[in-house]
Amino acid sequence: MGQHEGKGRFITLEGGEGTGKSTQIRLLLARLECVGIMAHQTREPGGSADAERIRAFILEAGQSRFTPLTETLLFFAARNDHLETTIRPALNAGKWVVSDRFADSTRVYQGCMGTLDTTTLERLEELIIGETRPDLTLILDLPAEIGLARAIARRGAVAADGFEAESLAYHRGLRQCYLDLANREPDRCFIVDAAGNEQDVAERVWYIVSERLLAPDNGHPHG
Ligand code: TMP
Repeated sequence: MGQHEGKGRFITLEGGEGTGKSTQIRLLLARLECVGIMAHQTREPGGSADAERIRAFILEAGQSRFTPLTETLLFFAARNDHLETTIRPALNAGKWVVSDRFADSTRVYQGCMGTLDTTTLERLEELIIGETRPDLTLILDLPAEIGLARAIARRGAVAADGFEAESLAYHRGLRQCYLDLANREPDRCFIVDAAGNEQDVAERVWYIVSERLLAPDNGHPHG
């Protein structure tokens, strides 16, 4: 902790499709509001006007259209605009930011599940993200079968975008990549069991957020 001392806090939610990230973000924002913290909700790819345009372009093109580096650069181009126009101004103004996905998605989807090497990813992170690293990352974890079934149910008749139209084996791989990532950065990343009803999951999320970011010994004025 400490890099945003005196600034807002930066929380990211990660996980495969159908793990309930958007529901949990909504519930987390409501809990934060109850303790007097008005957080800014955002997402990746997207989160600013131009980044949303890049999002539409990437998702419409699907996964196989670009070379791995081009695809990664598009995610980072969106991220750069998101950071410059949304995330950093909010944090600098003392606001909390809660993002549905951030750079860990690139590590998992383009790196661990894709072909992009770690050195390139680290260099891009250094260049684009710099010091603006999340204070806390919650990884919503579900067995791949459940996540995939939820994602399909939610989608209904609407066709999957290229990133969702993957097999069960792919979703199992995604889950493992997130678990490995969490193991490598245990101070920042927390695995949340996303099975069961949404209120129970919200309790688990809130426990971690309040322990890590609101407890009296972490220097936050709300503690
Ligand atoms: P969403 O459906 O969670 O909004 O995300 C859109 C898709 O984009 C999702 O399948 C994950 C993928 N994605 C990447 O491949 N790399 C990234 O860096 C991000 C942010 C998302």
